[in-house]
Amino acid sequence: VNIILLGPPGAGKGTQARRLVEERGLVQLSTGDMLREARSSGTEMGKVVAEVMDKGQLVTDEIVIGLIREKLESVDAPGFIFDGFPRTLAQADALGTLLNGLGQAVDAVIEMRVDDDALVDRISGRYTCGNCGEVYHDTTRPTKTEGVCDVCGSTDLRRRADDNAESLKIRLLEYYKKTSPLIGYYYRGGSLNTIDGMAEVTQVASEIAQVMDSIP
Ligand code: AP5
Ligand code: ZN
Repeated sequence: VNIILLGPPGAGKGTQARRLVEERGLVQLSTGDMLREARSSGTEMGKVVAEVMDKGQLVTDEIVIGLIREKLESVDAPGFIFDGFPRTLAQADALGTLLNGLGQAVDAVIEMRVDDDALVDRISGRYTCGNCGEVYHDTTRPTKTEGVCDVCGSTDLRRRADDNAESLKIRLLEYYKKTSPLIGYYYRGGSLNTIDGMAEVTQVASEIAQVMDSIP
């Protein structure tokens, strides 16, 4: 199965995608992670996208579609979780075409709804493990031992350069302007499922599980 997690910055897409990887053996394709990897490895493309990302704007369709195409062509998986992709109508069309070429389709789109105020709180408290990618939060999900990742024991805990109030404002605007039209797009295609992303992590996970279990 192939599913898309759709939602604004801080909705919990990454948190839920990691659970699905563990519980269902699916492969997470996060364009945000791929772009951050390109940045830190200092590739030409990484240099181009760094400035755009830090401002909170969207990277060009050409670049992100290229990244996804590369993964779909090279990774063998029982299914993919698209996390942070597609984000524009052009990306959604490209994904449909790419999957179609592989004899596959988008089986479900899960839209995670979260109020803007909550997004600000979530983003401003977030930190992640630089080694294993586990996602934490200052107040709602701190590490058990301060400064040490619960999962892998790494002390490389990081905050993202774009997790500040100014970039977040732009990221939200970009979401409402360019990404939210995908809600109608997938609704018309019959694959949209909207869930309450305001609930606790485990409750959100069980709503996602219900959607996944209803895929024929
Ligand atoms: P990307 O990395 O995709 O970031 P994003 O969409 O802004 O999403 P986030 O990672 O911020 O949030 P999330 O929904 O994963 O939330 P999380 O689980 O971490 O993109 C970054 C940038 O890359 C973009 O701005 C753009 O420049 C570029 N880019 C990426 N993809 C692109 C594309 N397709 N096209 C063009 N450009 C692209 O949770 C957040 C916090 O909340 C955590 O602290 C977590 O612990 C907490 N939390 C999670 N769930 C809950 C819950 N249920 N209750 C309470 N707290 C919770
Ligand atoms: Zn870790």
